[in-house]
This record gives sequence, structure tokens and C-alpha cells, in this order.
Amino acid sequence: MRLLLASRNPGKLREFAGLLSGFALIPWPIEAPEIPEDGAFFRDNAGHKAAFARDWWRSHGSEPVDAVLADDSGLCVDALWGGPGVLSARFAAALSNDDKNRALLKMLPRDASRTARFVCVLALAPMQEDGLRFFEACVEGSLAMEPHGHKGFGYDPIFIPEGFDQTFGELPDEVKARLSHRARAARALREALATLATEP
Ligand code: IMP
Repeated sequence: MRLLLASRNPGKLREFAGLLSGFALIPWPIEAPEIPEDGAFFRDNAGHKAAFARDWWRSHGSEPVDAVLADDSGLCVDALWGGPGVLSARFAAALSNDDKNRALLKMLPRDASRTARFVCVLALAPMQEDGLRFFEACVEGSLAMEPHGHKGFGYDPIFIPEGFDQTFGELPDEVKARLSHRARAARALREALATLATEP
């Protein structure tokens, strides 16, 4: 199955290459337009991105694909009323990744709860129809006192998944590939696609 990924985020693309092994993955090409991201919820954004990319590909696509896959994801911090949430990619975007992580940690009131979760919504847009299917998952955890580790991307160096005492930036890649928000959503997607493939 050929899947067009509606993303140019290198961190996401790297993870999908492992999570969706066995699928032919085509990244959103550099000459294609920027995909708008203006929804108030992860699900809106994921759906808009998948539908936008499908429409564009139908008239401009350079090769046949079976479906478009969009990922909208982010970090939701309880003490920040769920923020940065859907704005995760845009929060302090002018700063380096490390400074951005430190800026986020500084926003936490002293003694506030440090609980947080990564959320991922995948939207699948089959080329041969106009519907969308959604796969949503999260991973619970808490925020470190300061960034640790250089693995992964984005907020990984400040996020400690529940049951561990190191951040995703420090833990072996295999741990994130097993229990992350994206890993769980991708597993649900794989299961749904396998069921479709075996239906008469
Ligand atoms: P968007 O889905 O393109 O809006 O961007 C999601 C943003 O959330 C990324 O740019 C990261 O800052 C953050 N994010 C999403 N997933 C992860 C993850 O697995 N690790 C670290 N940061 C993430």
C-alpha cells in the first residue's frame, strides 16, 4: 500500500518509517504548497490536512498513492490548561528547540502539577473515496525539571512517560516506538488497514 504523508516534519517522517514499515511512504514534496493548519482541535487539523493533501494530490500528484495520512499531534500540559496543545508546533517557534523546551518549563508555576500527555490524531484519506478515518492516541507522563537527552525531536527531552524516570530524549528509541502517542495511533491504523485488506 502506498501512503502519502501530509508532513515535512523530519521527526515525524523518521518515526513513521519505523512504525509503518511494510508500507511505501511518500513524503509531502518540497514543491507542494504549505498545508494549512488552522483548526482548534487536533482532530480538525488532522482532517483538514489529510483532505487538503488529497485534493491537491488528485490534480497535481506525480505518482499514484492509495491514501493520504496526516498527523496532528502535540504536548498538553495540565498546569498550562492543556497548552501548548494544538499550538505545539507554533509555540516559541523563533527559539531553538532547546530554548523552546526551557521556555515552556519556565511557564510552569512553582509547585504546579507537572503532569502532561502527548496526543496524536492520525487522519487517513483514501484516494478512491471522499471520507476520512481517524485514529487517536495519547501517552501520559510528566515534565522533567530541565531538558535531558537528544533523541527524538520537539518536546521529547522534557517529557517523561509514565512508568519511567527518563525522558523520551534519553530512553532507547525502541521505548518511544512502543508506547508513544504516535506509535499507539499507528498501531490502530495498521490494525484497521489489515482488517480492510481481509474483508471479502
Ligand atoms: P503539528 O502536528 O505539525 O502541529 O506539530 C506537532 C508539534 O508537536 C511538533 O512540531 C512538536 O513540537 C510536537 N510534537 C508532536 N509529537 C511529538 C513527539 O513525538 N515528540 C516531541 N514533540 C512532538
